[in-house]
Amino acid sequence: MVPKISIYPDYNAMSQAAADRVIALLTRKPDSVICLPSGSTPLGMFRALAAANQKGEVDFSKCIYIGLDEWIGLGAGDEGSCRDLLDRDFLKPIGFRENQVVFFNGKAMDPEAECTRVNKIVESFGGLDLIVLGIGMNGHLALNEPGTPWDTYAHISELDPLTAEVGQKYFNKPTPLTGGITVGIRHILEAETAILIGSGGAKAQVIARALAFPVTADFPATVLQNHMNAEFILDEEAGSGLKR
Ligand code: PGA
Repeated sequence: MVPKISIYPDYNAMSQAAADRVIALLTRKPDSVICLPSGSTPLGMFRALAAANQKGEVDFSKCIYIGLDEWIGLGAGDEGSCRDLLDRDFLKPIGFRENQVVFFNGKAMDPEAECTRVNKIVESFGGLDLIVLGIGMNGHLALNEPGTPWDTYAHISELDPLTAEVGQKYFNKPTPLTGGITVGIRHILEAETAILIGSGGAKAQVIARALAFPVTADFPATVLQNHMNAEFILDEEAGSGLKR
């Protein structure tokens, strides 16, 4: 299946469109299992979701939130961790209860057991209804770095040096990043719906590659070409590398 491509004039419109997909799903299926990313790109989507929640246009109280990924060695309470950003930008503003939230603990003593824990929970819910993804400058999806086999569920990943470098933007002091704990490509492929959000000219080339490259584990975002129900939601700049 070719992913659907939806291009909006600017970041706000792109963010609202992504939020609208989440709202439509929760309206149809309030107890959905949703997996949304941390990072810069989703901030506008989170703002739109918080605004809709305030106005009573969406009800998150029955859904389950699964965290997409985390840096190894970091977790709740560590400034700049994925959990920290999600708490600040989404989970606390919406008022999620702790029993609705499943998140990788990057500080777990046994990271493999942590992967198994999250895998079992996702499986017990019958998989993800929706996964929203950003895209990394190396084509990664979540922390599935280039070369990640496609038959993986949650796993520990060794970070590409580029990811460790780009990841510094989330921290207010230099932070050594070496590993990630992440949902796997199989979670992405098996999710009912997969949405990739992209914003800004810096992402234009990687987004074009994700859609034009042959499907290859060397560029994980190409896997979305194999998804049965994938959509790229982009602003004009992020979509500027696509032939139209
Ligand atoms: P970003 O991260 O939204 O902060 O650009 C995307 C990613 O690395 O997956």
